[in-house]
Amino acid sequence: MSRKIAPAPSPRPFAYSNRTLHCDGADLSALADEHGTPLYVYSAQQISERFELFEDAFRGRPHTICYAVKANSSLAILRLLAEQGAGFDIVSGGELERVRKANKGALRKVVFSGVGKQVWEIDAALKANILLFNVESEAELHLLAARAEALGIRARFALRVNPDVFADTHPYISTGLSEHKFGIDIKQARAIYRKAAKSKWLDAAGVSVHIGSQIRKVDSFAAAAARVTALIADLRKDGHEIRYIDAGGGLGIDYGTTAFNPAQQVQKYAAALSKGLAAETAHLIIEPGRFIVAQAGALLTRVLFVKKNGSKTFIITDAGMNDLIRPSLYHAHHEILPVKQPRSAAPSITADIVGPVCESGDFFARDRVLAAVKPGDLVLILDAGAYGMSLTSNYNSRPRPAEVLVEDAKVKLIRRRETMRDLLAPEVLD
Ligand code: LLP
Repeated sequence: MSRKIAPAPSPRPFAYSNRTLHCDGADLSALADEHGTPLYVYSAQQISERFELFEDAFRGRPHTICYAVKANSSLAILRLLAEQGAGFDIVSGGELERVRKANKGALRKVVFSGVGKQVWEIDAALKANILLFNVESEAELHLLAARAEALGIRARFALRVNPDVFADTHPYISTGLSEHKFGIDIKQARAIYRKAAKSKWLDAAGVSVHIGSQIRKVDSFAAAAARVTALIADLRKDGHEIRYIDAGGGLGIDYGTTAFNPAQQVQKYAAALSKGLAAETAHLIIEPGRFIVAQAGALLTRVLFVKKNGSKTFIITDAGMNDLIRPSLYHAHHEILPVKQPRSAAPSITADIVGPVCESGDFFARDRVLAAVKPGDLVLILDAGAYGMSLTSNYNSRPRPAEVLVEDAKVKLIRRRETMRDLLAPEVLD
């Protein structure tokens, strides 16, 4: 059977050279030999370039790009971005520590989001003098005021408002509707800012919004920004000195093979936000995660077995859902390429690419047409740089994969593979 197989698609940093996939000049089969599989491979160049696209697009207005740490929280990647001037969007005390470790100076450019902040996390962020707390409920605002008073540190905050704007994305990653747990109803915000003004420990410095993730149609960003801009005008009338507008993250990428121009997409996004912001001149914060790191990274895995059950063919790899959960969790599509480029006349098969985990939901692709591969061959799961490693687990007592960063044609191991000792270290037996 010979069917058309998708070519190695741009705009990814992975391409065939001498019939072998490379990442910015580094041979992936050599990387697998040296570091083992499953292995996350990232291109530093692409991460930097994507960050610069946002810098370029917003050059006309005061702004800070706060990379969303949850997308990929590797210290080496945080450091790379911090050195380019990035701020960071964090959602936990753990992410705060990651920023501190990667680049202490970046702490002052941190915004802290999340619906369930705890006292120790708030305290650590206050002491670190972060830029902004994005507060998601009135109760959290009370807690923030109390902790600020206890520590004698004034807290800059923005209410994260829920603008009731529909974003066309997977229901698990849509956040901007009133049915979602995120943010504060935009209609109630003005009254809460009014109450907050009574506390000298709270500085109502901004307003924030985030409507969801993997959003491809930029109109929703314009709609949300317009609603927040109108709120800011009201807040100024009420005497609040609003200096920041945090428009959140969420710009989507193309996980498929259609033509996709990242630079153009960022320009469109910037134009949509500008339209929504109209004449508003507050300092703009954005929190992109996926767009910066998703396509820079891929998961390299080796085929263990190929088996047939009835009419179905299964390609079983040494990576599983604990290493990359997006297909299982969101039915997300990831392109998969053989590391050895097939000859054009090579036979193709239709198969499920699955992992070794004991769950039927442990798959990377179903009924996918790809070049026939055999045990021992390597395959590359594309666009896994965002929400790949950061969502890994030790399920089935599987050690997490290693990570390498390719920078200036040099390969750096940025996280070693977990060992059996790592796996068992936190446990206690009497
Ligand atoms: N800001 C806030 C407050 C967020 O909650 C998120 C993502 C971001 C920024 C970054 O969004 P991005 O630019 O990466 O779309 N695990 C899912 C995505 C979950 C997104 C959660 N919040 C996935 O793999 O698709």
